[in-house]
Amino acid sequence: MTTTTASRIAGCRRYLLILVAFAGLPWAAAPAATPATPATPAATAALAPPQPGRDYHTLANIDEFRVRHLELELQVLFEQQVLSGIADLTIERLAPDARQVRLDTRALTIRNVWWLRGPGDVVGLDFQKGEYDPALGSPLEIDLPAGIDTPTFKLRLSYQTRPEASGLQWVPPAQTAGKTHPYLYTQSQAINARSWIPLQDSPQVRFTYYATIHVPAGLRAVMSASNPLELVPDGVYQFEMSQPIPSYLLALGVGKLEFQAIGRRTGVFAEAPVLTAAAAEFADVEQMLETSEQLFGPYRWGRYDLLILPPSFPFGGMENPRLSFITPTVLAGDRSLVSLIAHELAHSWSGNLVTNATWRDLWLNEGFTVFLERRIVQALYGERRHDMEDTLGLQDLRADMADLPPADTRLAIDLRGRDPDTVFSNVPYDKGRLFLGWLEARFGRAAFDEFLRGYFDHFAFQSISTEQFRAWLDANLVAKQPAAVTAAEIDEWLYQPGLPRFAVLPQSPAFAEVDAARGEWLAGKRTAASLPGKDWTTHEWLHFLNKFPPRTPAVKLSELDAAFGLTQIGNNEIAHSWLRIAIRNSYEPAFARLAAYLETIGRRKLIKPLYEDLMKTPAGAALARDIYARARANYHPIAAATLDPIVFARAAGGG
Ligand code: BES
Ligand code: ZN
Repeated sequence: MTTTTASRIAGCRRYLLILVAFAGLPWAAAPAATPATPATPAATAALAPPQPGRDYHTLANIDEFRVRHLELELQVLFEQQVLSGIADLTIERLAPDARQVRLDTRALTIRNVWWLRGPGDVVGLDFQKGEYDPALGSPLEIDLPAGIDTPTFKLRLSYQTRPEASGLQWVPPAQTAGKTHPYLYTQSQAINARSWIPLQDSPQVRFTYYATIHVPAGLRAVMSASNPLELVPDGVYQFEMSQPIPSYLLALGVGKLEFQAIGRRTGVFAEAPVLTAAAAEFADVEQMLETSEQLFGPYRWGRYDLLILPPSFPFGGMENPRLSFITPTVLAGDRSLVSLIAHELAHSWSGNLVTNATWRDLWLNEGFTVFLERRIVQALYGERRHDMEDTLGLQDLRADMADLPPADTRLAIDLRGRDPDTVFSNVPYDKGRLFLGWLEARFGRAAFDEFLRGYFDHFAFQSISTEQFRAWLDANLVAKQPAAVTAAEIDEWLYQPGLPRFAVLPQSPAFAEVDAARGEWLAGKRTAASLPGKDWTTHEWLHFLNKFPPRTPAVKLSELDAAFGLTQIGNNEIAHSWLRIAIRNSYEPAFARLAAYLETIGRRKLIKPLYEDLMKTPAGAALARDIYARARANYHPIAAATLDPIVFARAAGGG
């Protein structure tokens, strides 16, 4: 546990410095001495079911006031690992008598709050920090004086972030592609926007924004907004997002970035060493955009660009509007992992246009998006690839479902008392996709496509709950063909654990051939060199490796490794599957790659299973702790929060 303890001490020291620096200010926010105990999942399960549409993950009084517009001006201070500046909030009053605005914050230092009464007319306001909740942060309570009685008013907050902000990663030069300049990026979904901007951090509050970002000269800032395509020499960047978005789509990246156009409306921002490779890998993005418009209706966001992040980015991609954030681990050289781009692009309809009202409804974002992603892949790359990706998705879903408590395998999941970021699984993704595929099978593709386009049109720029979706489904699809489905079947999809028996499951003929080849080789009926591995796509390789038996003799593994160079393979997803086999079988020739892999890549999906596998034996656990001690500092706070309990748990069967 030395690493956590050390970083906690370092964190405390930093915190003390900040506290000293701001002593005398009205509120230097500190973690409350006695944190509120969060309700355990078991405790909440005993309560009444969650209220549809009620956001249990905001501390803001969103029923009394609504933020409609944000104006942000921030300095990016790499040395201190701090964002410092002001946020002006235009707020609409919903409750005539409410006298206090409560905002979400997490590890923010608020210096001052003013009411912007008129041009040049500024009134200081009283504010305090409310009770700290370990999952949600601290509400900032701002008392409104009499006189603020207009339907909308503006508040100005002067504040700064803390180095440990959960939504920021300050990447040192050594962890970037160029190695010469630092890199900063944000990850706001699910509830991390509150760690870098004080606001109503709920997916049902939508607002427009302007931002002015000051960065060191020579660096470039980009946001989920209109982005200048040229470098601004003095480092003062201006952004505008004129469509209303929820807070989890607020995003900022700063680094030694360059831009390369791909198509008319598309391009890529990346550090110079990866720019050309990224533009080549993602050359299909313009065509993806056109295909998506044909399938789902107009793209309403103007440009669609990509930002390539450092390898520590904890996700594959993040659908920040106009500018998806992308892991460099999909730069495979053969475009085999570009369904990730189809996925993030598809969120421009499901998620960014029609948004989940609460994190319980995440499947409305992710399940729809996987469904759309697969439609794009089918249209662009054909049936065979579609079926393989769909089947791999089902395999991932099954693996997750086997490990999850049954209650967490429901589409409409009860997340009360928990941080949604700690409950991440494939359920909203592939179970959601299977639900929509089942509807499509029952109603027919033509009817379902028409329904989808109507859905995106009707709910554009709104946030909706599972129950609002269901009402719309009943009125606009089920009513037209009432015999096609029953209400009980839909209820089972939405509210019951597991997969319904009547689900329509994908199948891949290509994988049947891979299964046969694997079986023959494992049974000693053919050599590794005789396998058609040179002709296999990434997907066939993933399937080949993912279905290995629990134990494989070391001689077989070295034979395979010698034939195909798996330990050194450049494709990070194939490497991931291979390293899992290596861990299970203590195949030591792969351990140097394993360490290098875990020390450079921070994508949670690729590293969490490796640590979990290692922790299954005492020797593996020792190796995991050794690697983690070096790797942890490079991980994003979100990844570290996932891995700490895994790596610092006792190893199974000893330790
Ligand atoms: N929006 C998600 C990432 C996310 C979800 C972040 C929930 C925080 C909370 C993004 O669109 C996503 O799904 N990314 C996937 C890739 C995709 C191809 C399945 C990922 O990062 O693995
Ligand atoms: Zn997604």
